Amino acid sequence: MEDKKISSENTCVKGAFPFLNGTGNALTDDVLVKFDDVSLTYHDKSGETLAISDLSFEVKRGELLGVVGPSGCGKTTVLSIISSIIKPSSGNVTVDGTTAEESRDKCGYMLQRDELFPWLTISQNVLLGTKIKKMKGRRDYAFALLDKYGLGDFKNRYPSQLSGGMRQRVALIRTLATAPELLLLDEPFGALDFQTRLHVVEDVHAIIKNEKKTAVFVTHDISEAISMCDRILILSERPATVKKTVNLSAIKELKPLDRRESPLFQKYFEDIWKNLQNK
Ligand SMILES: Nc1ncnc2c1ncn2[C@@H]1O[C@H](COP(=O)(O)OP(=O)(O)OP(=O)(O)O)[C@@H](O)[C@H]1O
Ligand SMILES: [Mg+2]
Repeated sequence: MEDKKISSENTCVKGAFPFLNGTGNALTDDVLVKFDDVSLTYHDKSGETLAISDLSFEVKRGELLGVVGPSGCGKTTVLSIISSIIKPSSGNVTVDGTTAEESRDKCGYMLQRDELFPWLTISQNVLLGTKIKKMKGRRDYAFALLDKYGLGDFKNRYPSQLSGGMRQRVALIRTLATAPELLLLDEPFGALDFQTRLHVVEDVHAIIKNEKKTAVFVTHDISEAISMCDRILILSERPATVKKTVNLSAIKELKPLDRRESPLFQKYFEDIWKNLQNK
């Protein structure tokens, strides 16, 4: 009871007095990513495509933010802007208090396919990102993660000798080995069968929370979003704008499989489903 009182008072104090970052800009220390009225138009031979329009949202430090929306609405585009692969046409994006470009190295990407190299062992795959980025002293951390998450005995095996779920865990550990502030997950379980997905979601959720990472998780699967995330952003049809934000704080302390048992699970599902159906 006492703890709760103290922590809510602290939150108020933090909110009331944003601190100044090195550039002199005011910024609340609990926001890692901020989009302010961001729009992006792609230009190619067939013309212009307005992918996102005046999109504003925040990702708090330590938060697992889900992003759902119709196919082609601009979800991958949002991740590409955060990681500075593409620049917005207008609006402002900050990552860790600076521009997305300056924070590029703070992002780690995990995609639908695990993209492990079949000719490299698991340990070589896991260390690849650190080698490319010329990061020293990450070997022990990467190997400790493999041990901690049940892959220690597979260091010298090749990806083809692992199950799909194990390969996705290796891919996540490879991303974590480069010490990203922010994980960007773009439909990372899309290639796995339903049974495997349930278990990998459990594992990946535990890894992200144990390692205290912030993550933006794009998925088509509403149930998966509800079982993994702290908050879900529902995007409209293209051009993407925020249709609704669903706060999952009532179930966020539960593990993914336990959330599916919660009576609130179906309520969240119906709410998100209706919003996606334009109802
Ligand atoms: N490089 C590009 N050049 C031109 N148009 C693009 C490019 N990338 C994406 N688009 C267009 O922008 C829109 C948004 O694409 P995006 O890939 O962000 O959608 P998405 O929500 O991730 O889709 P999905 O759910 O199918 O993965 C689509 O209409 C797409 O055709
Ligand atoms: Mg996409």
